[in-house]
Amino acid sequence: MCGIVGYIGKRQASSILVEGLTKLEYRGYDSAGVAIIHNGCLDVTKCKGRLANLEKRLEINPIEGTMGIGHTRWATHGEPSDVNSHPHTNQKGTISVVHNGIIENYIQLREKLTKKGYKFLSETDTEIIPQLIDYYYKGDLVEAVIKAVSKMEGSYAIGVISTYEPDKLVAVRKDSPMVVGVGDGEYFIASDIPAILNQTRDVYLLDDKEFVVMTTDGISILTEEKEEIQKEIYHVTWNTDAAEKGGYEHFMLKEIHEQPKVIKDTMLSRIIPGKPINLDKISITKEQIKDIEKIFIVACGTAYHAGVIGKYVIEKLARIPVEVDIASEFRYRKPIINEKTLVIVISQSGETADTLAVLRDAKAHKSRVIAVTNVVGSSVSREADDVLYTWAGPEIAVASTKAYVTQLIAMYIIALFFAENKQTLYQEKIEYYKNAMLELPNKAEEVLKNKEQIQKFSSKTYMYKDMFYLGRGLDYAVAMEGSLKLKEISYIHSEAYAAGELKHGPIALIEKGTIVIALATQEDLFEKMVSNIKEVKTRGANVFALALEGNDTIEKTVDSVLYLPKVDPLFAPVISVIPLQLLSYSIAVQKACDVDKPRNLAKSVTVE
Ligand code: AGP
Repeated sequence: MCGIVGYIGKRQASSILVEGLTKLEYRGYDSAGVAIIHNGCLDVTKCKGRLANLEKRLEINPIEGTMGIGHTRWATHGEPSDVNSHPHTNQKGTISVVHNGIIENYIQLREKLTKKGYKFLSETDTEIIPQLIDYYYKGDLVEAVIKAVSKMEGSYAIGVISTYEPDKLVAVRKDSPMVVGVGDGEYFIASDIPAILNQTRDVYLLDDKEFVVMTTDGISILTEEKEEIQKEIYHVTWNTDAAEKGGYEHFMLKEIHEQPKVIKDTMLSRIIPGKPINLDKISITKEQIKDIEKIFIVACGTAYHAGVIGKYVIEKLARIPVEVDIASEFRYRKPIINEKTLVIVISQSGETADTLAVLRDAKAHKSRVIAVTNVVGSSVSREADDVLYTWAGPEIAVASTKAYVTQLIAMYIIALFFAENKQTLYQEKIEYYKNAMLELPNKAEEVLKNKEQIQKFSSKTYMYKDMFYLGRGLDYAVAMEGSLKLKEISYIHSEAYAAGELKHGPIALIEKGTIVIALATQEDLFEKMVSNIKEVKTRGANVFALALEGNDTIEKTVDSVLYLPKVDPLFAPVISVIPLQLLSYSIAVQKACDVDKPRNLAKSVTVE
């Protein structure tokens, strides 16, 4: 997720672009840049690091001009660096582009353009866009952009300027957001409303494949066939703070609602029906996979909970023994790791001290290490042998939500990749699982539509001092994450327990009115789960259950049940966690807690 801005008018573009980028830093902040056209020349200033670095460079070497584009980056392809920063230009330096999204087929396009003599400087997917526009440019910039975009697959929101037509800014989006600001004789593009709210409150909300052509004489919005589209102006009433959260009250709620998209993004170019699992940054060979005798998955907090799911799915699909542990324990218990083991570290930030220590220790013991992380260029991504990036975009709320679900997707991808290489599953079964995964974004969207039941339950439970989360198998792993969410943002004590283990002691805590959240999505364990629920019900517990649609027998056993859209139980964690996130969020709001920045917590624990 990156931030793009663009301006054309009578005022100097530089300060307007930088001000817009400061409002988009929450979308990405590992590098930034601007490109401005002045007197027919294209000036580009861009650099690694926070926006302040760019501002310093512009103070030293200001750029004049009344038309330009700007970008603040959250790296997905290519580490944070000056050369990988946006804007990118064609090799003639006559076309410049800013981009937010992922070009799925950039490798194929780059190969084709290279064969036609184009040279590339960066590792990014974005750099193919100005080169492709250049390839199609025959005197009409809009035509060239339309042709280039028709060859691109994936998601994009792009702004384009060129010295060929120095009075024109062209933009288009598909699956990545873009708004068009309308001022008095001046126009703007931005990834999000906050970037332009100080300039105008009148915007067009662009739809996919709508092409915007802006000049100082006016603006037109075109179809791919260059037919004019009439759109309604939307007048923004939000304040800046609300706008940064996309109109949500907290970043956490915004990020919960981003989950369908980031689940889809993390599968992009990796899960393709009929094609092998494609892991671009993983070089482990089929033979090396076959030689693995044991896998250790090691992480902290929410990432650890994703690792527990990883254990279940890798053992089930790839039949490789997996041990999962928290990094602060693993690193001091002298684990048996060697060249026959594989260590998978999971870390959203890629900087967690204990997790990083485990990575270094594993490598010292000649074990191969795969890192699953959300931050390109983070320490774990640089020190691991292989990296599988989650594409959740920056996660601002301390309590992890969208990063967690993309870590689950990463676990499923690794499990299927290993199963494919070890041939522990028939190809038909692998295809079945891949198709089931591709339905998950829509299933998650359906869950998010069903919030009122969660809100009702939270209004009856926010005053409680403790809660139990029960589950078996994958449900137990999700119960752990649900319990952590409640603790860290509402400060209510809770614990997740393996439902079959309760009777070995903790059931002594169950009394009349005890709140129990029971997860019952695993069909092969359902009957066992029902009997565990009856054990707590008979002792007076108030049970709120999560089950898959179609399983109405559970209604007779519990006080209330929230039904989830039907999915293969193997993938139920990806959607069953969402109501638990919403429950914790709703309770925390009712308790007036600081949802995005809970007391005592930091987003990344870089100390032991
Ligand atoms: C998540 O809700 C927590 N804030 C915390 O447990 C977090 O998952 C943990 O600190 C690990 O962080 P990492 O993924 O950046 O390594």
